[in-house]
Amino acid sequence: MGETIAPHGGILVNRILEGKEREEWLSRAATFPSWTASPVTRADLICIATGIYSPLSGFLREEDYLAVRDTMRLASGTVWSIPVTLPVPRELAGEVAGSSYVALREEKGTILAVVKVESLYQVDVKEEAKQVFRTTDTEHPGVARLYQQSSLYLGGEIWLLNRPDQGEFAEYYFDPVQTRAIFREKGWRRVVGFQTRNPVHRAHEYIQKAALETVDGLFLNPLVGATKADDIPADVRMKSYNVILENYYPKERVFFAAFPAAMRYAGPREAILHAISRQNYGCTHFIVGRDHAGVGDYYGTYDAQKIFDNFTSEELGITPLFFEHSFYCKKCSGMASYKTCPHSSEHHVILSGTKVRKMLHAGETPPPEFSRPEVVRVLIEGLREKSMAQ
Ligand code: ADX
Repeated sequence: MGETIAPHGGILVNRILEGKEREEWLSRAATFPSWTASPVTRADLICIATGIYSPLSGFLREEDYLAVRDTMRLASGTVWSIPVTLPVPRELAGEVAGSSYVALREEKGTILAVVKVESLYQVDVKEEAKQVFRTTDTEHPGVARLYQQSSLYLGGEIWLLNRPDQGEFAEYYFDPVQTRAIFREKGWRRVVGFQTRNPVHRAHEYIQKAALETVDGLFLNPLVGATKADDIPADVRMKSYNVILENYYPKERVFFAAFPAAMRYAGPREAILHAISRQNYGCTHFIVGRDHAGVGDYYGTYDAQKIFDNFTSEELGITPLFFEHSFYCKKCSGMASYKTCPHSSEHHVILSGTKVRKMLHAGETPPPEFSRPEVVRVLIEGLREKSMAQ
């Protein structure tokens, strides 16, 4: 039997109410000030409630927010890199200030969660952008979102009363308590987690399998929460994985599950959050490749690796596995990286994400050295269906 790694901060949080208590809170919540949770808030709720964001038990209070923003730690000293916060709609500020709890709803009205009003505070969004995203440029999708939302935050514990609608990914949702049990059952002592917000390509497959060579299991965990509009939609990405898992991965060594979090595009700081989340799922290792969680040219290629130097292995239980920029090399006749390939760049098949997206939208096929043809077919078909539906 494998021993699983401890959750970040020592305890696996569970903020899901059930049974009679849930019923009682549901009827009480009907009287609380409430609003419709944004897609990011919905994602945060599920991540907090199920323990993916352990040790957070709610949205950050001011003291923790400032500590996270300025020092990448909670006020207690525990490592935490991204402010997980709840912006309060301006028009509800007075009502919220006068209440002990608020309720968050799904669009169709269902109450998702209640939040205790513990700390209501005004933030300096520019400072948050500077610290968290390393830029105040509104072209950055994370900064743009930050500037659009309210700068009045509510901090406090949450209780989840209804899970947000999981839609078509329901069968791929597993809570950390479940993945931990699954890894234990499989006897996996060393499990490597893989974060992605893109369709699978050969470089992904290469670094996943290189990592799998040295551990017992691979936890493939594509993010399915909110992403920016021009990213490939999550359902198409999930399909791209299913088609490749069928034919190219060892079933008994891979576990495929959706990561319900929203993307922040905070590069280095988000890599830490991604690693912590996978530790909570029970992973012992985490892959960080080139420009992890990056966007545009805001971060250096390996900044998301360098940031791990700020923390000791006691502070961050999960071990990051760093990978150099990988590609197919025609001279090597195989996948390689700048670390392992002696040939010059004219022999390397490298395409930017933007270029690939353009090709796919135009129905063009990226070369097989970049992406497996089965995957390309799924992507072109998926995107065509989406554009017809629009
Ligand atoms: S991310 O925003 O989720 O990081 P993406 O899905 O592109 O974006 O990347 C998933 C993981 O694979 C990240 O750790 C990233 O650094 C890594 N990665 C992506 N492409 C490459 C590549 N060509 N070489 C090395 N690592 C890569």
